[in-house]
Amino acid sequence: MPNGKVLVTGVAGFIGSHVAEHCLRAQREVVGVDDLSGGFRSSVPAGVRFVTGDLRDPAIVDALWVKEGPFEAVYHLAAFAAEGLSHQVRRHNYLTNLVATTNLLNASIRGGTRHFVFTSSIAVYGTGQLPLREDSVPRPEDPYGIAKYACELDIEAAARAYGIGYTIFRPHNVYGERQNLADPHRNVIAIFLRQGLNGEPMSVFGDGSQTRAFTHVDDVAPWIARAPWVAGARNAVLNVGSDDAVRVIDLAAEVAAALEIPVRIRNLPARPEVLHAVSDHSRARSIFGTASPVDLKEGLRRMAAWARSLEMAPKRPFEALEIQRIPGGP
Ligand SMILES: NC(=O)c1ccc[n+]([C@@H]2O[C@H](COP(=O)([O-])OP(=O)(O)OC[C@H]3O[C@@H](n4cnc5c(N)ncnc54)[C@H](O)[C@@H]3O)[C@@H](O)[C@H]2O)c1
Repeated sequence: MPNGKVLVTGVAGFIGSHVAEHCLRAQREVVGVDDLSGGFRSSVPAGVRFVTGDLRDPAIVDALWVKEGPFEAVYHLAAFAAEGLSHQVRRHNYLTNLVATTNLLNASIRGGTRHFVFTSSIAVYGTGQLPLREDSVPRPEDPYGIAKYACELDIEAAARAYGIGYTIFRPHNVYGERQNLADPHRNVIAIFLRQGLNGEPMSVFGDGSQTRAFTHVDDVAPWIARAPWVAGARNAVLNVGSDDAVRVIDLAAEVAAALEIPVRIRNLPARPEVLHAVSDHSRARSIFGTASPVDLKEGLRRMAAWARSLEMAPKRPFEALEIQRIPGGP
């Protein structure tokens, strides 16, 4: 069904809104859905036909196909992505990240969707697998990573059973304009920016020597948007992101520089986390080609300029914890 009409889930969220924008630029007709639990109506690009809906409910998903479908491609980006919190919200995590995905897959298969794009995570790898390569056997260690890996396996099973095409992306720490600055649980750059703009010190776990690679959204959203129309991306699992690892303590200094404020740090006790995470991106590059990535300083400058233009929303902590006790805590 090559009608060029696509569905983007999580369209009011950070990466989903950028993917939708790239789809519009490619002249696709875009329907977007989001329950606004973690996204903002104002982030939905003009030109998207927006539907509010909770994808955990199969009736809502099926109604999308009846009222708006069929869709040639589905980009499934909606998720509850606070990995660290997922131990304390197991049920919410599996309903939002796994069951919602199965609802969408069912509807996609029934509705004749040609290609299903899914944003998984490097959380599927677990520890001790460096560099993170797509051909290593995933060993996720938390409910978020387990849900993402279960989705990957389920999508692959659906492809074998029904021939639906897919591309699974495993992005590495994406940042940029329209990221949720009100979420205290995730995305270190957004947290540092918020703290800097509020005149607070930036909170660093341990001594900040842990390293991560940070990827501007402009380096991943175009590839995600193109995937259903790129032959090499069919039925592929792809790491995507930057190759340049930065120490978290140095990242704080870079965020402060982008905000043109002195850097102030508040050291918190170290938490159990991977010290160094580096992904291998050669497979994605061999398919999509090499582009010159947005340099971290430039990306932070753009994001800081955007963040300054915002009226700062109050912090939106996730309140419906199923287990109050912090993992490993008393
Ligand atoms: N940002 C990153 O660094 C990163 C890294 C790896 C993977 N990912 C994945 O990429 C995707 C997008 O992440 P993001 O950073 O844009 O997150 P985001 O929180 O900004 O966007 C997710 C969107 O999904 C929506 N949503 C949540 N539950 C929903 C439900 N039940 N029904 C409908 N909508 C719902 C939220 O309201 C939100 O707008 C997610 O799948 C995430 O797991 C993100």
